Amino acid sequence: MSDTYSSLVNSPIGARIAGALGLPKPTELRRYEPGAPIVPGPVLLGGHGAAPLAVKIGAVLSTHNVQVLSDPGQHRLGAVILDLSEVRTPADLESARAVLAPGLKALGKHGRVIVLGRPPFDGHKDPALGAVRRALEGITRSVGKELRGGGTANLVLVSDGADGAIESTIRFLLSGRSAYVSGQVFTVGATGATAAPVPDSWDRPLEGKVAVVTGAARGIGAAIADVMARDGAKVVCVDVPSAGDALAKVANRIGGTALQLDVTAEDAGARIVEHCARFGGIDIVVHNAGITRDKLLVNTDEDRWRSVLDVNLLSILRMNEALLGEGGVRDGGHIVLVSSTSGIAGNRGQANYAASKAGIIGVVETMAHEEDLAARRITVNAVAPGFIETEMTARMPVATRELGRRVNSLSQGGLPIDVAETIAYFAQDASAAVNGNVVRVCGQGWLGA
Ligand SMILES: NC(=O)c1ccc[n+]([C@@H]2O[C@H](COP(=O)([O-])OP(=O)(O)OC[C@H]3O[C@@H](n4cnc5c(N)ncnc54)[C@H](O)[C@@H]3O)[C@@H](O)[C@H]2O)c1
Repeated sequence: MSDTYSSLVNSPIGARIAGALGLPKPTELRRYEPGAPIVPGPVLLGGHGAAPLAVKIGAVLSTHNVQVLSDPGQHRLGAVILDLSEVRTPADLESARAVLAPGLKALGKHGRVIVLGRPPFDGHKDPALGAVRRALEGITRSVGKELRGGGTANLVLVSDGADGAIESTIRFLLSGRSAYVSGQVFTVGATGATAAPVPDSWDRPLEGKVAVVTGAARGIGAAIADVMARDGAKVVCVDVPSAGDALAKVANRIGGTALQLDVTAEDAGARIVEHCARFGGIDIVVHNAGITRDKLLVNTDEDRWRSVLDVNLLSILRMNEALLGEGGVRDGGHIVLVSSTSGIAGNRGQANYAASKAGIIGVVETMAHEEDLAARRITVNAVAPGFIETEMTARMPVATRELGRRVNSLSQGGLPIDVAETIAYFAQDASAAVNGNVVRVCGQGWLGA
């Protein structure tokens, strides 16, 4: 739905009034177009010590005609990449200030800040090292809140041995695919694989893959289907029979197939596997179908409680058993779940929904440590959308909706495509070392976590 406030404050007169009153003025975000340059401007690379990750990234960017700088000079920067993987003591953090202070001043509209580090706790016994590594999160999240003009700041924690597997994450964060992702921590190589292949085409990274998307008839699910198809996948669109017409439209639009199915059915997983046999199996599963039945907990009856948990959580556990069995997800496949910021921060009137969406995070954390899945190189990650402009949020009372839109670092709601792009990044083979992540797509929402 349209964001009237944004249109108003971005009109010539509205902009003057908003400026005078100190009102937030959301910038239209830079979203991805196939064929777009990796980043729309030079990249400042800096760091501490030998900065090995920055050196690697610099080499990749240079081969793709991106201008790489060690000093901003008079340039208007597209991004600042700061490699703090070698910080050891609190004094080393001065390197962050020394690079970011001039870098942020030179950063252009829709700029990107990417901070690189090592996981705070990776078996060492040095509290100062843990402190200084964790400090990177504080720096990144604060920078995200300081940026203007549609800029974002994110932290990537790269485990030892996974330095060669960061390209998909860096590309995602530099591009318009991550327009509504800010203040987040990504891990590469924390569990599962530490290496990743490079796709034939970064513009069609899902070429030849078979992707199943539940709840694909509308909203975020339809956007996921669109993005997966754009990126080269054959998409199997799943939704309830009552949404059959809308489902068929989505499937026809993208050259995919429609499968009418209630995900809570006992045999839902088996029916998906059976449907996909004609394509020789499944590479990607996106568990997106979800419902809300909001009420204060004191007024929540058993039916509201059960139905939300059944659709949003239990169905996933049930389907995964079949999807991970014979004829289901192939080795090297990717499972992506759709959680919610409500599952992280909780939400008044959503105890049932928050239980289901927090439960999804528990599923990801557990599956990411399963040795069996690691042996099959299957990744499991989740997105946790914040305020996204869909029919679900259009039904909110006006005041709640306006608050949801504004209280984030980008002062606007996200679009379904923003969630879809993050899911498509998780679903790439080039993200083989990205496992067990829960990334919020929330414009760095200020409420809750
Ligand atoms: N919109 C937001 O701001 C937001 C925020 C956080 C999380 N989410 C999550 O994103 C996902 C998609 O949300 P949306 O806003 O697009 O919702 P939506 O209501 O517009 O779409 C959900 C789709 O799921 C389908 N579905 C529901 N129950 C099903 C079942 N039993 N079997 C098969 N399909 C079923 C619906 O028919 C519908 O097409 C949900 O999991 C939701 O919880 C949304």
